[in-house]
Amino acid sequence: MAAVCVYPGSFDPITVGHLDIIQRAAKLYDTVIVAVLHNPGKQGCFSVEQRMDMIRTACQGLPVQVTCFDGLLMAFMRETGTNVVLRGLRAVSDFEMEFQMAQLNHQLAPEVETLFMMTTPQNAYISSSLVREIGAFGGDISAFIPASIEETVRIHLLNNDCQK
Ligand code: PNS
Repeated sequence: MAAVCVYPGSFDPITVGHLDIIQRAAKLYDTVIVAVLHNPGKQGCFSVEQRMDMIRTACQGLPVQVTCFDGLLMAFMRETGTNVVLRGLRAVSDFEMEFQMAQLNHQLAPEVETLFMMTTPQNAYISSSLVREIGAFGGDISAFIPASIEETVRIHLLNNDCQK
């Protein structure tokens, strides 16, 4: 049976930190499903379609499927018959929330395992929200965003109100 993991997140936008996790996961799993949260209550800076397009571009050549979901992640896991959730951990500050989510998700769907992968040290400080802020003020985001989508992200951040 093919080994599949689900890497869920907001990806608003995908960063080199996300891409690093996906590349490393692709060595362990036959398929990495990157699942973008569609949250009707939180519009985000990039539309879900834009985020998915950028992930597809950034992940070209990798065994990646890009999709989106709304509602509960555990419901998505059951609907798709998948049972491994992958999350990246950057620092101790991520741990508390991730621990809480993993515990609650385990209660909701005990058959699903949440696995954590530590980010590489050079990516530990990167977050989509800070990249949005830097880009919105015209700062250089080239070290934080995959090269294949950098221009798209740069122009979008300059022309939209994305400082949140
Ligand atoms: O990239 P993010 O914003 O850190 O990803 C968070 C995400 C999408 C994994 C999390 O918010 C999520 O799973 N949302 C779906 C709703 C859900 O299942 N909530 C219960 C969590 S215990």
